[in-house]
Amino acid sequence: MNHITKLQENLLTAVQVSPYREKTIVFGEGAEAPLLMMIGEAPGGDEEKQGRPFVGKAGKNLSAFLEVVGLKREEIYISNVVKLRPTKESPKTGKAVNRPPSAEEIAFFLPFLQAEIQTIAPKVLVTLGNVPLKAVTGEKKAVIGDYHGRPVALADGRTLFALYHPAAVIYNRSLQAVYDADLLELKAFLQREVEELAPLANIHDLRIVPGPTHTNVIFDCAVPAEYMTDKQHRGVKLVNALRNAVQAKWPDHFCVIKLEPDYAPVHHE
Ligand code: URA
Repeated sequence: MNHITKLQENLLTAVQVSPYREKTIVFGEGAEAPLLMMIGEAPGGDEEKQGRPFVGKAGKNLSAFLEVVGLKREEIYISNVVKLRPTKESPKTGKAVNRPPSAEEIAFFLPFLQAEIQTIAPKVLVTLGNVPLKAVTGEKKAVIGDYHGRPVALADGRTLFALYHPAAVIYNRSLQAVYDADLLELKAFLQREVEELAPLANIHDLRIVPGPTHTNVIFDCAVPAEYMTDKQHRGVKLVNALRNAVQAKWPDHFCVIKLEPDYAPVHHE
């Protein structure tokens, strides 16, 4: 069982003996060693129905975000601070409608989010709105207006890049231009992160292999062993840099990268 599955089991066990035992739990999902982890506030109705974060309307916002910053959903990890849908009864219809998460809900799920970040170990945390910003910084008084749109170094070596929550942008149209500019800043920041490492790849074999559905570009690429595990995530950044290079050169090809630690030569028959 991998670490994240174990973590999820622990959370389900804690939920069983909590006031939330009747609720649907929506876990994070995505890449195992991503450069970027996105953290929202809490699941909404679509997420509760499907048991997945950022689907339905929020999924559309996420797709627009990914398009701008040049990443694919499966390349990042996506989660929320609170793993259940906070609801209240609508006085008009009597139906469950969304409400902001309570302080108790946030406190209950916070240790799990912290463990999740440690396990997924992304270099960059993108938070959406005030709830994940406070959760990640540990600053109760942190507000998005002071943090958005720029990289902020965190004590654990990761980088926080805070954004307004897309829902806030819908309610306050004047934030649209700010949100758009922040996304471009994030894109430029991510590009700098990966480009800085591209020349360090010691690529000693590149093979172009036609497959049944697409052509593969296979790199065997030697990197210093410490890149694979270091806190700067240089191994991950290198992979992203190579992938971007392949995308630019051969947009229809599939990129396979094999990282070999310690400049060990790789032999092929
Ligand atoms: N959907 C989520 O999963 N999280 C949010 O913050 C908003 C919508």
